[in-house]
Amino acid sequence: MLSAKATCNSHGQDSSYFLGWEEYEKHPYHQLKNPNGIIQMGLAENQLSFDLLESWLQNNPHSAGFKNDNHSLFKELALFQDYHGLPAFKNSLADFMSEIRANKVTFDPNNLVLTAGATSANETLMFCLANPGEAFLLPTPYYPGFDRDLKWRTGAEIVPIHCSSSNGFRITESALTEAYEEAQKQNLKVKGVLVTNPSNPLGTSLSLHELNLLVDFVSSKNIHLISDEIYSGTVFCSPGFVSIMEVLKNRNLMNTDVWKRVHIVYSLSKDLGLPGFRVGAIYSNDDMVVSAATKMSSFGLISSQTQYLLSEMLSDKKFTRNYLSENRRRLKQRHEMMEKALQKTGIRCLKGNAGLFSWVDMRHLLSSQTFEGEMELWKKIVYEVGLNISPGSSCHCSEPGWFRVCFANMSKETLLIAMQRLSSFVDSMAKKHNQSGRRQPLNRNLRRSKSSLPKWVFSLSFTTAKSGKERCQM
Ligand SMILES: Cc1ncc(COP(=O)(O)O)c(C=O)c1O
Repeated sequence: MLSAKATCNSHGQDSSYFLGWEEYEKHPYHQLKNPNGIIQMGLAENQLSFDLLESWLQNNPHSAGFKNDNHSLFKELALFQDYHGLPAFKNSLADFMSEIRANKVTFDPNNLVLTAGATSANETLMFCLANPGEAFLLPTPYYPGFDRDLKWRTGAEIVPIHCSSSNGFRITESALTEAYEEAQKQNLKVKGVLVTNPSNPLGTSLSLHELNLLVDFVSSKNIHLISDEIYSGTVFCSPGFVSIMEVLKNRNLMNTDVWKRVHIVYSLSKDLGLPGFRVGAIYSNDDMVVSAATKMSSFGLISSQTQYLLSEMLSDKKFTRNYLSENRRRLKQRHEMMEKALQKTGIRCLKGNAGLFSWVDMRHLLSSQTFEGEMELWKKIVYEVGLNISPGSSCHCSEPGWFRVCFANMSKETLLIAMQRLSSFVDSMAKKHNQSGRRQPLNRNLRRSKSSLPKWVFSLSFTTAKSGKERCQM
């Protein structure tokens, strides 16, 4: 009874990324009410700096009460429906984006399109830039929500750029070329590359070398580059964050063809920890993209009272400066706390400098170096240890044994309990192995083979570039 689009499986709802959330919902941890419940470590939420936001609200009751000099703005806000957005909010958001980039680049509010979160921004850009059946190249591992956001309703395709642990999952020229050629083999027209900088799930920012490589690649192929910079304000240690706009500026590429083909996605869901407010944006140097995306933004606008409240908050420069530095300090502390605890357990992480999570190497804990082995370990960690973490296969990682573990969506106490649980689990595994005299295969670097993949990973990654069997009917 439903449309092909509504029932198409490219949404990715059956991925372990979402299944883990479902398991958590059934049996959530609570210190007193459910101390044996599952601890949610699969949610990239930033709860570390709420007190700063709340104290701003307390100190600014007029803004929170939608009043200006004791004059109520209720009616004005209730009636406002211009899809270009509140000019005051666009100004303050553009300034906030510059501040995150240490004012090395400025953003013109006229080039900003407001959207209901980065989810809507990414989908809108896909609608604007790709026809159904045309492809974007994405470095793996990538944010599992992209299957839904980029492909589901637009009919666009994702072709993976396979990155590997051998160089810390960095993007290389050969990986870019391989992905491009793979798309051509599948008869898919490549319209662009989409990167997340800093990366979800890696927790690392792109190096200058990678950024230059990307600019050269999209220039030579005459295609677009989308840089999802939703985590730009979470970079808590060196190397610092370099925005793609800064690279274009430093290379004097402003107002060139490639300048118009680079687009930024941003949102306040991570840096300010406000995913519930649904505040996102597209920034493009191409007037045609801005105009098309503005028309499409009708499908996912930000409510005017949210725009008003945040325009007041973000135009308080003293507050934003303090918030950004204090939030980074807290993230750094939390990141160190988790990595030290993991290290004690003999678990290493990719060296990260950003984000709300670590990319954790558990290859030595797999019973076999396959995606089945990864799934087996993931199930044990969810059901026996009581931690919901995200397996690398849900992020289309090419190698089994990596997991994304979030650290900013819980209290310190809960994080410590999670680490204790993991430590006991690893100890008990070691004991079992010692007793059985069996040795684990350690850190073998295997490329992904189709036969070792769980079915849903297969349907989400490989068939995206296939003959269209898995594609939605338009
Ligand atoms: C890389 C990336 N892009 C987009 C999103 C979606 O963000 P929003 O809540 O602003 O829609 C997320 C959320 O986790 C993300 O990690």
